Amino acid sequence: MQLENKVAVITGAGRGIGRAIALELAGAGSDIVVSDIDTSTSGQVTSEIQAAGRKSISVTGDVSRLQDAQILIDKTVENFGKIDFLINNAGITRDNLLLRMTEEEFDSVIAVNLKGTYNCMRAAAKTFMKQRSGRIVNIASVVGQMGNPAQINYAASKAGVIGMTKTVAKELASRNILVNAVAPGFIETAMTAKLPQEARDKLTGLIPLNRLGGPIDVAKVVLFLCSDSASYITGQIINVDGGMVM
Ligand code: NAI
Repeated sequence: MQLENKVAVITGAGRGIGRAIALELAGAGSDIVVSDIDTSTSGQVTSEIQAAGRKSISVTGDVSRLQDAQILIDKTVENFGKIDFLINNAGITRDNLLLRMTEEEFDSVIAVNLKGTYNCMRAAAKTFMKQRSGRIVNIASVVGQMGNPAQINYAASKAGVIGMTKTVAKELASRNILVNAVAPGFIETAMTAKLPQEARDKLTGLIPLNRLGGPIDVAKVVLFLCSDSASYITGQIINVDGGMVM
């Protein structure tokens, strides 16, 4: 799958799944805008991509702020003249049971995962529409499809991402802009490293393939959705979950 002369913007690309997506798309020839709230990690990813011979810039920002999302898109167009792919990957968890969850825990997860995805799509839409081309891939979660105790905020945010993906796919299809989501299951990253062993064992028991996935498993599907091979796919939610949701 060749992505030469393409430009990808990836949020939350400093580590984990976002970093794997950045390296995978760069490996296929795309130039990469690495965006993250954490400057220390995003700079490293940018250097890695440059060392491998692709153009890359790092843009620090908080996706929950519409101004930051707009700056991200403006800097991309200033530096590269266009955007081919927007990957909305930045996400957080603040787990708690319904009765214990604070308003701050609820609001912060919705602000980053749900509003952050809206902010970046909103900021990029005009450029995509002018170009009459573009691909958006939103990173959702199986939790948005099946629910998960202590994750009412996260489940709501990811179910919302799925609803927004289908809606924006319908709104932008006539301009040749394809919008899909990937719903990962249980992927080995810093986010899941926080889980106690007992919870990990329980979750692994729910996976027919009986193992956790890696960031690369998600990145390969994002690469496919950005490639010419996926030019007739829009509004879809592709699960990368070892069979957890069927
Ligand atoms: P991670 O915690 O390892 O990485 C998330 C990245 O997003 C970090 O670099 C962080 O600095 C950045 N970030 C956080 N808040 C931000 C903000 N406000 N603005 C910009 N960047 C921000 O997480 P991981 O596991 O790589 O997750 C990536 C995405 O995949 C998230 O949307 C997550 O919900 C989703 N996901 C992860 C699963 C897993 O099992 N790890 C399963 C299903 C979905």
